[in-house]
Amino acid sequence: MSPEPRRVTLAITGASGAQYGLRLLQCLLAADVQVMLMISKAAQVVIATETEVALPGRHEEQEAFLGREYGAGPGQLRVFGREQWMAPVASGSGAPSTMVVCPCSTGCLSAIATGASNNLIERAADVALKERRQLILVPREAPYSEIHLEHMLKLTRMGAVVIPASPGFYHRPQSIEDMVDFIVARILNQIGVEQTLLPRWGEPLPGGD
Ligand SMILES: Cc1cc2nc3c(=O)[nH]c(=O)nc-3n(C[C@H](O)[C@H](O)[C@H](O)COP(=O)(O)O)c2cc1C
Repeated sequence: MSPEPRRVTLAITGASGAQYGLRLLQCLLAADVQVMLMISKAAQVVIATETEVALPGRHEEQEAFLGREYGAGPGQLRVFGREQWMAPVASGSGAPSTMVVCPCSTGCLSAIATGASNNLIERAADVALKERRQLILVPREAPYSEIHLEHMLKLTRMGAVVIPASPGFYHRPQSIEDMVDFIVARILNQIGVEQTLLPRWGEPLPGGD
């Protein structure tokens, strides 16, 4: 019997850095991970502002579009709407063991920290916390206010992992894609999905001496 495929919940919210979320989606699909995806309304505005991706507005169309764009296998990608309460991610019995919010707006960070659960993204994160599952948050704001920092501290203490969208430069990025991959590699390392985007510290750069 072949093992169950790995399943990950991915939420893309309206912080700057839509490319991080889309590249992460692409890498998860390429690694044969099943992805349950949610894209907030604000994220759709950011995607339109920051990328060339012509994402449709309806979640059913997003599923077909992104599946085509990133070569998802049949049933590998499912996209859910903001009030689709019957989705697997809305319950501890159906949700994957890992959820990533990338990028994570400060609004979404606040909603998760306070357990608002007013839409499916917030509910899925609430489920991850109550079930003590893996929750990765990738906020981006500058500067951070005391409120943002308090929320990050509170969530870290509850077991969530905050990976700020702050790429390093020691790998000498040559392009925006290299900087995006720096963060995406960090997320993939954290959730245990094999990645070849960036060598681990102490290992040689691809093609290097
Ligand atoms: C182009 C653009 C860039 C934005 N950048 C950020 C950002 O870097 N960080 C952030 O927290 N919010 C940012 N926002 C604001 C959020 O989108 C807004 O607070 C929204 O309510 C978040 O909703 P969501 O959590 O449902 O996605 C940005 C909005 C736009 C349109």
